Amino acid sequence: MTNSQETLTVRDNRTGEEYELPITDGTISAKDLSRIGTGEENPGVAVYDPGFTNTASCRSAVTFIDGDKGILEYRGYPIEQLAENSTFLEVAYLLIYGELPTEEQHEKWVHEITFHTFVHENLRSLMQGFRYDAHPMGMLMSSVGALSTFYPEARNIADEDIRHDQIVRMIAKMPTLGAWAFRHGQGKPYVYPDNELSYTENFLSMLFKMSEQKYNADPRLVKALEVLFILHADHEQNCSTNAVRSVGSSQVDPYSSVSAGIAALYGPLHGGANEAVLKMLRRIGTKDKIPAFIEGVKAGNEKLMGFGHRVYKNFDPRATIIKKACDDVFEVTGVSPLLEIAQELEAIALADDYFISRKLYPNVDFYSGLIYEALKFPPEMFTVLFAIPRTAGWLAQWRELVDDKDQKIARPKQIYTGDRQLTFVPASERWK
Ligand code: CMC
Repeated sequence: MTNSQETLTVRDNRTGEEYELPITDGTISAKDLSRIGTGEENPGVAVYDPGFTNTASCRSAVTFIDGDKGILEYRGYPIEQLAENSTFLEVAYLLIYGELPTEEQHEKWVHEITFHTFVHENLRSLMQGFRYDAHPMGMLMSSVGALSTFYPEARNIADEDIRHDQIVRMIAKMPTLGAWAFRHGQGKPYVYPDNELSYTENFLSMLFKMSEQKYNADPRLVKALEVLFILHADHEQNCSTNAVRSVGSSQVDPYSSVSAGIAALYGPLHGGANEAVLKMLRRIGTKDKIPAFIEGVKAGNEKLMGFGHRVYKNFDPRATIIKKACDDVFEVTGVSPLLEIAQELEAIALADDYFISRKLYPNVDFYSGLIYEALKFPPEMFTVLFAIPRTAGWLAQWRELVDDKDQKIARPKQIYTGDRQLTFVPASERWK
């Protein structure tokens, strides 16, 4: 047995035996704990950690977060610098391939993405089959899942060239599918991609173009959307990324894995929070109702949506950048009346001991909903606007997973709490 300082000594008081477990990168291997057993009845200690609050599921070199210091870095580059000086497609390349692209790589990458924005016409028919009031996120989730049937070679996940093709396709087609899901709800014709436009300009064109020859988006809005896309591109092992990795660990194709990520992002505690923020602000309605609302939150009646984070316990660096983007967007669109309520709510909460003692601060969703609303998106579109850029992060994490020799099919343990060894009585006897 090794005896160094980088170990943890565990004494099993049931047997008096001591075990020395190596500490690597601040973690012990859960597998090592399985050696601590007392025999057949107690085969080995396991870790009980619902929600993975203190469990590392992988080694990753994609995104670094220091929640206490409010640091977020993609491949080592601070988010503030990327948001200020980069583009979404360059950031996507960085996340997926680990390095900033050379000029040549960048040109090829942008060209490839731009020329894969069209989708098969049958997929268009599939989307048109949804009900008139279908939630766009449900449409996105299903159509991304359906893409796997259009590219059956995608299941060959060990082939780097095939993997690259699917990565390009997914990043390229996501805005098309997202925009069509939006147009569907509006009863408007789907707009085909315009390959002369940039990634975000093209997305805005597919969303809002009507009869004009060419859609010209306001450059300030294009820039704001670009920043929002960069901020949302990855966030290490969050719920949806964990879903992508967990499903991907079965070695299924990446469309199916990303579709699982979209499903996870759909939920109100994850990507759906900004929609919930907007609903909350509307419900509060006027500033004088804020104190009563805060009292309700403190009494446990509900949560202050857009506040709190599993990782950030000081501030969310994305929230700081997004506040600035908010100003830029409102310069074009005019100020939302809900902004005042949001600002007052934030000020009151940040001065209140309930929120201070629990380290609850505004997260990225507190202001993003206001921007999306100013851009004329209905709340159901907010998670779609999150899913499009997050696809880059999901794919970066998926690619890393596929190449990681430590990874196995995800299969957590359980603590069984149900009955045992009951005797089955057939229905014909039970219902007599
Ligand atoms: N409002 C009021 N109380 C809260 C809130 C909130 N938004 N968030 C956490 N708390 C309280 C919680 O009740 C608990 O109190 P106590 O210790 O008295 O039981 C304490 O703070 C710790 O909270 P937790 O639920 O253990 O924290 P968590 O890490 O499990 O949850 C969270 C993180 C983001 C799910 C949670 O803060 C939350 O539900 N926030 C509102 C939803 C939201 O804004 N989600 C967006 C997250 S950011 C986008 C993303 O990255 O996905």
